[in-house]
Amino acid sequence: MTVTAQQIDKAVAVLRRGGLVAFPTETVYGLGADAANPAAVRRIFEAKGRPANHPLIVHLADAAQLDEWAVDLPESARRLAAACWPGALTMVVRKAPWVPLETTGGLDTIGLRVPAQPLAHALLHSFGGGIAAPSANRFGRVSPTRAADVAQELGDRVDLILDGGPCSVGLESTIVDMCASPIQVLRPGGVAAEDIEEILQAPVERQAVGPARAPGMLEAHYAPLARVIAVEDARAAADVARLGRHVGLIALSDVPVAFPSERLAAPSTVEAYAHDLYAALREGDARRVDLIIAILPPPRGIGTAVRDRLARAARGTEVGE
Ligand code: TXA
Ligand code: MG
Repeated sequence: MTVTAQQIDKAVAVLRRGGLVAFPTETVYGLGADAANPAAVRRIFEAKGRPANHPLIVHLADAAQLDEWAVDLPESARRLAAACWPGALTMVVRKAPWVPLETTGGLDTIGLRVPAQPLAHALLHSFGGGIAAPSANRFGRVSPTRAADVAQELGDRVDLILDGGPCSVGLESTIVDMCASPIQVLRPGGVAAEDIEEILQAPVERQAVGPARAPGMLEAHYAPLARVIAVEDARAAADVARLGRHVGLIALSDVPVAFPSERLAAPSTVEAYAHDLYAALREGDARRVDLIIAILPPPRGIGTAVRDRLARAARGTEVGE
């Protein structure tokens, strides 16, 4: 038996007795519990300091489990599952009556996702059931993309951390509300809205309206300790640089910058920007910068999700001028 298989067995045992297991997915690390066990699910909310009415995503090993967890599935949900799973897409659908309301934050809908990360898949496959898992950070903070980040965020509030190395995507899944008409993106993420439209051959609503149904829709979220200012270009960055004493910078590598700053990330593509973003925000805190300036990537593909997270990180740290 390999070490990994032993660890998976241990993790499954922890889940079966109602414990918490942090595990890697391709997007961010999740804080997992048995989605069918209300007491276990309540422990997730306690560990994160998350309000009980914020629904959790339930992770499944395989799209074949959809009909166990959901009812009244639209044909479009099956098409998206076939095209995007395993992957960085969460679909909000009508929940099966037996699913505990603790898991769905009291809603009659449920967020479902089949992750692609091999360790996540092995864990889900061995466990057999659904694993409810929000990002493994304290409520409102930066999501973890490495096992060490989880330890820093949650310490001994989690029973076991599976270390699968850095997450390949680095930003959370795209959440689509399949119950809305037209289908609505509740949170941009790893799968681009353009791609969903291409698959469904139908328009998808980009900007969620109405009261926040997802914590990712709360204005301030994903915030480090340092103040964050997001700008469109190098000139705007230079204008705000005077607002910090010790400035950290996140920008694509080909953006020229002339003011004194510590480069927290210099990704060469927008995918690399997404991959590096959360680690860069943490690095800013570790280096005790008081201002992080992020020069935004173009609003295409995963760039839309990067811009969304940076806008929220910036609102979460606004000092008010
Ligand atoms: O990439 C991800 O999605 C990661 C990994 C671990 O899978 N998970 C994640 O979970 O980001 P969390 O809890 O941090 O964000 C889940 C989002 C929340 O904004 C929640 O409100 C939304 O999913 N959500 C879950 N069920 C929902 C539902 N029934 N209706 C609307 N939003 C829902
Ligand atoms: Mg989260």
